[in-house]
Amino acid sequence: MRLLITGGAGFIGSHFIRYLLQAYPKYRIVNLDKLTYAGNLDNLRDVEENPHYRFAQGDICDPVMVNTLAQEVDVIVNFAAETHVDRSILEPGGFIRTDVHGTYILMEAARRFNHRRYLQISTDEVYGSIQTGAFTEDSPLQPNSPYAASKAAGDLLVLSYTRTYGFPAILTRCSNNFGPNQYPEKIIPLFVTHALEDQPLPLYGDGRNVRDWIYVLDHCAAIDIALHHGKTGEVYNIGGGNERTNIELTHLILNELDKPASLIRSVTDRPGHDRRYALSDQKIRALGYRPRHPFEETLRETVRWYRDNPAWWQKIKSGTFRHYYDQQYAGRW
Ligand code: NAD
Ligand code: TYD
Repeated sequence: MRLLITGGAGFIGSHFIRYLLQAYPKYRIVNLDKLTYAGNLDNLRDVEENPHYRFAQGDICDPVMVNTLAQEVDVIVNFAAETHVDRSILEPGGFIRTDVHGTYILMEAARRFNHRRYLQISTDEVYGSIQTGAFTEDSPLQPNSPYAASKAAGDLLVLSYTRTYGFPAILTRCSNNFGPNQYPEKIIPLFVTHALEDQPLPLYGDGRNVRDWIYVLDHCAAIDIALHHGKTGEVYNIGGGNERTNIELTHLILNELDKPASLIRSVTDRPGHDRRYALSDQKIRALGYRPRHPFEETLRETVRWYRDNPAWWQKIKSGTFRHYYDQQYAGRW
C-alpha cells in the first residue's frame, strides 16, 4: 500500500506513521504537513531516515501540492486539521478552511487518481454532549464549538461523496486521546508540564466535565482495523472506555508527580463547554478492535514521558505558545 498521510507531524498522525512503519514494513508513506504551530518534526526524528517514509511540507488546501503527491499513492488518511476547541472559539476561520475545504481538496485528488481508500479521522465532539448513555454512529450531529462544527461539516462532505460518487471513504470518530508528543495546549500535557514547573493548573468551571480517554496507540490500532477491514460509507466510533471527570484526571496527574492539590485553580468556564462525551464502539469491536492499554498505567507512563523529556515541551512552551496561553487565559483567573 502507498499512503498519503496528512497532518502526520502532529500528535496522533506521528504515532500512526510510526505504528504503520512497524506493522507493515513494505508500505510506503508520504507525510504531507503544513507544520502549523501544532506540527513538529521532532515527533518523527526516529523514522525520518526510513527509506519507506518521506516528508513533504505543504497545505491540504493547496490543490497543486495535493495532486502532485496524490498521484504517487492509492490511499489517503487525513489527520490534518485545526484541532483545539479553545483556539476555535478565538479564531474559527482556520478551522473552516482546513477541516472543511481541505477535506474537499483531498477528496477531489483521491477521485482524480482513482484511489482505493480514503480515511477521514474525526472526533466524538461532532455528536455534542450527552448526559447519560452513549452516542452510536447513527446519533444526530449536534456540534457545539466551531472546531466540532468544522469537523462535522467535513464528515458530512465525506459521507455525501460516498453516496454521490461511490467514493471509497471511511470515517472514524474517536474520543479524547492522550500519550507522548501531544501539544501542551490540551489538558493532559498542559497540566503535567505546568505542574512540573509549579505553575497553577487552570481547571474550567466546576471541573466535573467528563471525557472518555483513549491511549493514542489504541486509536492507531483501531484506525488500522478500519483501514484494512472497514466498509465504504461506514462510520466507526472509537472509544477508550475510560470516563473521568477533569478533576479526577487532575488529581491522578498531581499524585503521579507528587505535587500539591493547591496548584489547582478554578477558572472561568469555556463557552459552550460540552459536559460529557461517551461513545458506543460496538461496531469497530465487531471488526476485532479492543483497547489494550489500561488507563491508569498508560496515564502514569505518559506523565513520566513528559517528566523525562523536558526538551520536547520546553522548546514549545518557550515559543509562540506563550502568546497563545496569555491571550487564552487572560481575565479568567
Ligand atoms: P494536532 O493538532 O496535534 O496535529 C494536527 C496536524 O495537522 C499538525 O501537524 C498540523 O501541522 C497539521 N495541519 C494543520 N493544518 C494543516 C493544513 N492545512 N495542511 C496540512 N497540515 C495541516 O492534532 P491531533 O490531536 O494529532 O489530531 C489529529 C486528527 O485526529 C484531527 O483530525 C483531529 O480532529 C482528530 N482527533 C483528535 C483527537 C484528540 O484527542 N487529539 C480525538 C479524536 C479525533
Ligand atoms: P481539551 O484537552 O481541550 O480537549 P477537548 O475539549 O477536545 O475535550 O479539554 C479536555 C477537558 O479539559 C475539557 O472538558 C476542557 C478541560 N480543560 C480545562 O479544564 N482546563 C484547560 O486548561 C484545558 C485546556 C482544558
